[in-house]
Amino acid sequence: MLSVLPVTGNIGAFVEGVDLASEVDETLAEALRQALWTHQVLFFRDQFLDIANLKRVTTRFGPLQRLPYVEAMPDDPDVIGVAKKATDRKVAVFGGNWHSDFSFLGHPPAGSLLTAIEVPEVGGDTVWSNQTAAYETLPDDLKNIVDGRAAIHVGKPHGVKFAPKGRQRSTIKMVRNDPEADRETFHPAVRKHPETGRKSLFLNPVYTARLDGMSEAESAPVLDRLYWHATRPEFCCRHRWQAGDLVIWDNRSTLHFAVNDYDGHDRLLYRTTFSDDHPPRG
Ligand code: OGA
Ligand code: MN
Repeated sequence: MLSVLPVTGNIGAFVEGVDLASEVDETLAEALRQALWTHQVLFFRDQFLDIANLKRVTTRFGPLQRLPYVEAMPDDPDVIGVAKKATDRKVAVFGGNWHSDFSFLGHPPAGSLLTAIEVPEVGGDTVWSNQTAAYETLPDDLKNIVDGRAAIHVGKPHGVKFAPKGRQRSTIKMVRNDPEADRETFHPAVRKHPETGRKSLFLNPVYTARLDGMSEAESAPVLDRLYWHATRPEFCCRHRWQAGDLVIWDNRSTLHFAVNDYDGHDRLLYRTTFSDDHPPRG
């Protein structure tokens, strides 16, 4: 029996009674999609999916989406290994600040999946924040600024203009200094979810360069206030990983953050990404 158990009052649910490695029929797939649109992040324990099953489960949520600027697994362009070794000390982790995945693409992913292969004894949690709740509780002055406005996203860590200085070592290999990644993409600051019709904030400190109609300098303090609100603990849930976990999130209505507090421990997860029919719409 499928059961969906919320982990907080605002976001995240554990799903029990499902073996994703066996056939997921259409009835179950539809129940899981509805649970995802409702809870935004789903946690499954003890799934131990291999790559083939991870990809098969992914396609029940949407078509597999390949991502630029990151190195995929050598033998599979649909899968990324997110890896930090015990010997990787003081390195940046992939996703180590609030973001939605690849929001700078013209067509950002609808969602992502991570399956845990090896996890640290302590630390290495991931945190998600509900951007629908964040939008719905915005103070009026901020709501007035973001409603009907676009924001400009750029592939900051990958491009030339905004690239972090110095040599970068990270949990995945990333392409840097690609002028293509400096291209500006306009997305609505408030987007309507194609499945639920609910509006959510679609801004993040990694890829959002500025709000349309404002300079970077004018945007910065406004964006800071928006991010402060958007990541309040009451909108968040935090996952303590166990090997065999599968986590799925809705990339259209959440932000997430990889907590980098496990130097000296190995961590390895495999991730896939799925797309939807259209780019963000206001
Ligand atoms: C990602 C990501 C979070 C983590 O794979 O997109 O942000 O905790 N990962 O590794
Ligand atoms: Mn991410």
